[in-house]
Amino acid sequence: MATTQPTKTILRLELPTDPRWVNIAEKNIEEILVDHAYCEQKAATSGISLIVKYPDKERLVEEMTELVAEEWSHFERVMEQLKKRGFGLGRNRPDEYVVELTKHIRKGNKRERQLMDHLLVNALIEARSCERFKLLWKHIQDEELQKFYYELMVSEAGHYVSFVKLAKEYMPAEEVDARLKELLAIEADIIRNLEPRPDRMH
Ligand SMILES: [Fe+2]
Ligand SMILES: [Fe+2]
Repeated sequence: MATTQPTKTILRLELPTDPRWVNIAEKNIEEILVDHAYCEQKAATSGISLIVKYPDKERLVEEMTELVAEEWSHFERVMEQLKKRGFGLGRNRPDEYVVELTKHIRKGNKRERQLMDHLLVNALIEARSCERFKLLWKHIQDEELQKFYYELMVSEAGHYVSFVKLAKEYMPAEEVDARLKELLAIEADIIRNLEPRPDRMH
């Protein structure tokens, strides 16, 4: 399908989501929306952390300022969908996928390298979220949610591209590409080892 190909090539994810996930997710839409709201909150929080940690990186501060505003508007939009359906914002749950992926941000005194890892991990979270939104857009019955997830899919694909580009501002492009390749393989392994959860976005 024409709409499938561009995101597939842009995102480069190695392992597609288990197709059973979207069916079980639709049956648990309250849980999915709650989890999704927290994903948007975490994306905004992560952008703020990057600003605080690297205030000297002008381009990063500018881009993260925009991203935080966008992620927060996504949070508001998910809240609106919850409210419409008579649901409240439930409790936050740990996101095992993000916890596992974040372990691969290398620490130590190489500040730029750490920044690159952080940006690439964020890029992959965007890519995986985008892939899940695409599944929801294509398979969910609720027409309003279809449109909602389509719009978010486009937005998160843009974030993925921006994070990779931003990493190349601070580290040589070939190093970024090599690290991205490693992290793509790590990400696929994490997904392979996680049971598809009916109540989680990841
Ligand atoms: Fe978002
Ligand atoms: Fe995003």
